[in-house]
Amino acid sequence: MSTYGSYPAARPRRLRTTPAMRRMVAEHRVHPSDLILPAFVRDGVDEPVAISSMPGVYQHTRDSLKKAAAEAVEAGVGGIMLFGVPRDEDKDAEGTQGTAPDGILQRALRDVRSEVGDDLVVMSDLCLDEFTDHGHCGVLDSTGRVDNDRTLERYAEMALAQADAGAHVLGPSGMMDGQIARVRRELEENGHEDTAVFAYTAKYSSAFFGPFREAVGSSLQGDRKTYQQDPANLRESLRELALDLEEGADMVMVKPGMPYLDVLRAVSEASDVPVGAYQVSGEYAMIEAAAEKGWIDRDAAVLEALTGFKRAGAGMILTYWAVEAARKL
Ligand code: PBG
Repeated sequence: MSTYGSYPAARPRRLRTTPAMRRMVAEHRVHPSDLILPAFVRDGVDEPVAISSMPGVYQHTRDSLKKAAAEAVEAGVGGIMLFGVPRDEDKDAEGTQGTAPDGILQRALRDVRSEVGDDLVVMSDLCLDEFTDHGHCGVLDSTGRVDNDRTLERYAEMALAQADAGAHVLGPSGMMDGQIARVRRELEENGHEDTAVFAYTAKYSSAFFGPFREAVGSSLQGDRKTYQQDPANLRESLRELALDLEEGADMVMVKPGMPYLDVLRAVSEASDVPVGAYQVSGEYAMIEAAAEKGWIDRDAAVLEALTGFKRAGAGMILTYWAVEAARKL
């Protein structure tokens, strides 16, 4: 019936009348166990260090990280993704601290596993940018270009160091060609068959990573445009997805989140493994900053953004609000 007022009238508003009705007919909802908390741990600090561009987020000490992990368990959060921040004087061209058994990330993985056991899925970022003095995600050749295949060998060492330290899941985020296959092979050959790989499959060269650079004390000059994707491209993400699946990815991710919901939708339709979205540092900072000015309803905006990821096809969401949101859900 198309004529308004004829019988029966189409009145979608009937299903919006009460909170209970809206809750009952909701097509998507965010569950605490969908959420993954990205967390930073910094070497050589006695107190957590506030990250000014991400109000409420800290570079943890080893102790405060353990507490944060315990809180995540209590809130019912699904997982935690760890990022290591070495001392500046420990950075070098090869990112040695990223693979050293006593590097900050490996120590933090052991700490967190001893704190939470298997109650939280413990993940680690597998990338060299936090550990290199030039700030790139890989090692450089003589012309200053990131050398793909030499970087893969460093990633293989890093995978082993992180798996040995107790990571349940590794998150290769450097966008090197062949990284999933190389990491998978290293794990298989060294008795880590059960360590899963969460591939940063579609990762764009994004201005929304801005605050993250402060969070990890990045030394990067320049950009990552020769390895991260061009924001103009969608088809390319499906190619990255096909390769990552072929190479053995157990889960795949789209990153950033909000400006790339179309990519998330496309990847979620094409993927036969679980799909995650990463709501990145700049997305966090935008909502926090607008809220601080009184320009936006912070809590409503956070929940709306998280729900948007679910609607666009995400199973899991990496978000700096994971613990807070989980408590409110
Ligand atoms: C690379 C990595 C980055 C982020 C997660 N992993 C930075 C980059 O690629 O430049 C960004 C996360 C965020 O902005 O919240 N190790």
